[in-house]
Amino acid sequence: MNITIIGTGYVGLVSGAVFADWGHNVVCLDVDKKKVQNIKKGIMPIYEEGLEELVKRVQNIEKRFRVTTDYKKAVEHGKLIFICVGTPGNSQGAADLSYVFSASEAIGKYLKNEYKVIVTKSTVPVGTHNKVKEYILKGAGSKKVNFDVASNPEFLREGTSIYDANHTDRVVIGSDSKKALNLLERLYKHLNAPIVKTNLASAELIKYAANAFLATKISFINEMSQICERTGADVKDVALGMGLDNRIGPKFLNAGIGYGGSCFPKDVEALYRTSSEYFYDFRLLRGVMDANERQKIYFIEKVYKKFGTNLTGLTFGILGLAFKNGTDDIRKSVAIEIVKMLRGAGAVLNVYDPAALKNAKNALGVNGINYRLSSKSVFNKADAVFILTEWPEFAELNYAHLSKKMRKKIIFDGRNLLNPKEVISAGLDYYGIGRFLNF
Ligand code: UDX
Repeated sequence: MNITIIGTGYVGLVSGAVFADWGHNVVCLDVDKKKVQNIKKGIMPIYEEGLEELVKRVQNIEKRFRVTTDYKKAVEHGKLIFICVGTPGNSQGAADLSYVFSASEAIGKYLKNEYKVIVTKSTVPVGTHNKVKEYILKGAGSKKVNFDVASNPEFLREGTSIYDANHTDRVVIGSDSKKALNLLERLYKHLNAPIVKTNLASAELIKYAANAFLATKISFINEMSQICERTGADVKDVALGMGLDNRIGPKFLNAGIGYGGSCFPKDVEALYRTSSEYFYDFRLLRGVMDANERQKIYFIEKVYKKFGTNLTGLTFGILGLAFKNGTDDIRKSVAIEIVKMLRGAGAVLNVYDPAALKNAKNALGVNGINYRLSSKSVFNKADAVFILTEWPEFAELNYAHLSKKMRKKIIFDGRNLLNPKEVISAGLDYYGIGRFLNF
């Protein structure tokens, strides 16, 4: 099938490359000339495991993948046209849909009377499809056009998105047109995953519901961690005991410093905004957001309790800056927020992340921060070392050995990555999230 993708961010580039890998002819459009030139040369705008190799293969060897800035060519190409542009949160917490609408209008401008399906993959609030349709018609003007709109939300996780696209738990497609649903079903049929065919509003809501529910699970276990700290329970054991109930499941029950990233914070807030717009106060979501904010404050309070609120003269080692492991993405990274708080209180920070150093440097600058090229070097003369991103390699370090280089042997484990018993018996002070420490 001929497929067009509008937008070469995480969703667009990964989806385009994966569709090409499935044997379809894909044209990806981006308005950013530099980005398009780079992708043509095999330079990816994002770090994503396996993406560069996949794009190089489908683009240069199998020749089923092209990138362009030419809207006319792109729109003429695809039977299915996927809108995959960004929907960042605006200052009121709602999704900013201006890129979605300008893409819709541009599509309309080049549509002809040949039937096409315009599919939104970007995460958009319920009801957006009506406006997408309006903007397409606005772009088309007085021309006769023949199209349907559909919604096909993606559930890709950064860092594992290519795997996720090939091993999805389910496919969600929404449209009022049977013809559009059938075309989209053809695209995904080979995956052997359940296909949820529904109306447009339900498809749009499913994405928000799924992300908000996962964020709720995280905030729930984070709140439980507070109860654990106050009662002598261990949140890891509580999560294990809860998660073995297969109605609950073990995933997304890792207590920590809170969720971040380009999706959860934005989508929870946007769903709350949508509910308010429909005169419903989604109280549970307020609690989820509130707990997420408080969780990092509780963590910083542990530091203040140990060192006082003025951290001048102290040097801390920081392990992890990305919003989670497996990515260089620092958008809404709680690690970055904590680094800012520690620096703001006067500490000097030696920081390391396996992938996000460059992005972190752009965001944080060099004031009070030394960027280190190995995890081990952050231990040198440190008054404490902080684990802020759940990179598995941080669990493999020899803390007993590395702590010899520290000024004070203290670990703040914001991701519960380490075994407290082992760390404490190696002679370090350990501060985790909701852990039992009196062995
Ligand atoms: C998320 C959804 O999982 C994905 O389906 C959707 O398409 C996009 O949003 P992503 O943002 O890539 O994906 O990251 P995810 O792995 O879900 O983690 C989000 C945040 O939650 C991270 O900051 C992570 O550290 C945190 N997290 C996750 C926890 O604090 N505890 C957990 O148990 C799981």
